[in-house]
Amino acid sequence: MESKSEAKRAHCLLIPFPAQGHVNPMLQLMKRLEHEGVRITLAITHFFGKKFHKVPTSTTLEYISDGYDSGGYDEAESFGVYMEHFRQVGTETLYELIEKLDRSGNSVDCIVYDSHLFWVLEVTKRFRIVGASFLTQNLAADSLYYHVKKGMLHIPLLDQSVLLPGLPPLAQKDVPSFLYDYESYPDILHCSLDQFSNIEEADWVLCNSFYELEQEVAEWFRKTLPKLRTIGPTVPSMFLDKRLKDDEDYGCALFKSEECVKWLDERRKGSVCYVSFGSYANLSEEQMVEIACGLRDSDCYFLWVVRATERIKLPKDFVHNSEKGLIVTWCPQLQVLAHEAVGCFVTHSGWNSTLEALSLGVPMVAIPQWADQTTNAKYIMDVLKIGLRALSDEKGIVKGEELKHCIKEIMESEKGKEMTRNALNWKSLAARAVEEGGSSQKNITEFVNSLSTFGA
Ligand code: UDX
Repeated sequence: MESKSEAKRAHCLLIPFPAQGHVNPMLQLMKRLEHEGVRITLAITHFFGKKFHKVPTSTTLEYISDGYDSGGYDEAESFGVYMEHFRQVGTETLYELIEKLDRSGNSVDCIVYDSHLFWVLEVTKRFRIVGASFLTQNLAADSLYYHVKKGMLHIPLLDQSVLLPGLPPLAQKDVPSFLYDYESYPDILHCSLDQFSNIEEADWVLCNSFYELEQEVAEWFRKTLPKLRTIGPTVPSMFLDKRLKDDEDYGCALFKSEECVKWLDERRKGSVCYVSFGSYANLSEEQMVEIACGLRDSDCYFLWVVRATERIKLPKDFVHNSEKGLIVTWCPQLQVLAHEAVGCFVTHSGWNSTLEALSLGVPMVAIPQWADQTTNAKYIMDVLKIGLRALSDEKGIVKGEELKHCIKEIMESEKGKEMTRNALNWKSLAARAVEEGGSSQKNITEFVNSLSTFGA
């Protein structure tokens, strides 16, 4: 039996897309919603669920199926087949879950779903509950995908300057890679565009950005989609406003490693270059060798995350665990970025990594690989002015010499100091956005308040 006060609290079902870069922001949003008094049930796929060591005690964990319970999307013959299967099996198992929760007196008031699972909205309409689409990437990339999906921009975007409201002029290399190289990943392109197929019908559109960061494009989007609200950055409160209790970083808790934090403790302020390409990027062996050379020649201390599957690409004679460098398979990235020893972040500029670095005041060297990372790199260098985008050769490889030059520029030059100052300024703006009365906090409160009046 629910207590009276429990009964009054809105109950949200949260459904992330089952990939690290999507689950992490959903978990952080979850904590913010819980803080505002919302009851949460987190629904994940069976396969991704195996990676979870811990969720907050107050959260109920449930499962839906993508149809690939033992291997996730690696088991499917293509990404397109995976997404179609997920849509069918996911819809059926979501129906069952909502009915089960209903029978147990835990009826769902709202579903917050990753925008890539756009079909969830149909389920919310069927059950007459609130549907909130959660855009986990930046508004700039979202705007480009939106314009293409709605036929206002035609792909491929080759050798032309793209001019859209609220965005700086973008060259081919600055737009999400799928929009110029659309034949290499047609399924992922469709998936990126489908986020916007029914977005106008969503009751809310929540975005992992904050107003001050993408003000102009946020204004444009608000006119187009009046229910759009920025709620980020989805960085744990303990690194920003420090208002939330029980704020262990559940994203990092999936893979714990204390070793690197101890190693950082022994380095002096601003002397370490942290290197990571996120949870998915698959660098060529040639690129790995060039990065190794660049790090060695820059002569700085470095902490390099090389996932187990990527380790084989390291040069055989590359000295690791030496006095200068430490290579780990995963690290608690937020703790690392928050460490005063870290002075520079060499990153693939995934949106989470970008948001995390700017929220912790760390300047970046961007080596984008694909997707929205190219757009993020443009913002890092030219809009936010908190880093450099390393130049690549005609094969798309960033040479060691170029990496060394970028690292030195950030860690040793006057220009680098200015980028660090800019990053620290973004850090305080990020904290302010989620503080009491901040732009994102107000949006979250507005969203939560709307749930208690829905259907009343
Ligand atoms: C993907 C896409 O690449 C990205 O562009 C898109 O915006 C979201 O989905 P991913 O490639 O994994 O994500 O990069 P990113 O968005 O940066 O997310 C990586 C997450 O893993 C971050 O939250 C980061 O803190 C975490 N991480 C990474 C760790 O906790 N430890 C590590 O060692 C490396």
